[in-house]
Amino acid sequence: MKLKYCKNEIKKVLISEKQINSKIKELAKKITKDYENKDLVVICVLRGSIMFVCDLIRKIDLPLEVDFFWVKSYQEMDTTGTVKILKKPDSVLKNRDILLIDDILDTGHTFAKLVEEIQKYQPKSLKIAAFLDKPSRRIVEVKLDYCGFVVPNEFVVGYGLDFNQKYRNLPYIGVLK
Ligand code: IMP
Ligand code: MG
Repeated sequence: MKLKYCKNEIKKVLISEKQINSKIKELAKKITKDYENKDLVVICVLRGSIMFVCDLIRKIDLPLEVDFFWVKSYQEMDTTGTVKILKKPDSVLKNRDILLIDDILDTGHTFAKLVEEIQKYQPKSLKIAAFLDKPSRRIVEVKLDYCGFVVPNEFVVGYGLDFNQKYRNLPYIGVLK
């Protein structure tokens, strides 16, 4: 489905809805296999990863718990470098198998900070997933366990990702004009 309200603001569609759907199935299948007989807690990083997490967990064929980190680091099109935590997970994380999910791995500051934060809870295991990876922008080294798509150094919106809180509801990943 193409949304009409912003079609003049999007330069191109980078990843279509169809491509997203098949990637979700592929990742969910892998996660289902990897976490069989484990005690999975999915932690969604608000707000950007809502779409990805919602679609992904509906295809993971395992019992699981969902919790949230809410963080802030971006101002318009650039990262501030400091990651402010607005909300931490409420679930017990000690001795559990945590999968931390964000929308995009960019400079690496967010994942580095949240991994450090989660380690304090002494989980049994901790893996990280991002829907998108933009390796050209990396400042802090972070290794993803699960990745949807690698994207070029362009500012992308849609499927949860915003520019000034707009465009999160686009069903595809697009590049702004
Ligand atoms: P990092 O801490 O630099 O890795 O950035 C992670 C956060 O920056 C993500 O969770 C996004 O919210 C935001 N971000 C980075 N690149 C983009 C982009 O191209 N479009 C929209 N948001 C982005
Ligand atoms: Mg974000």
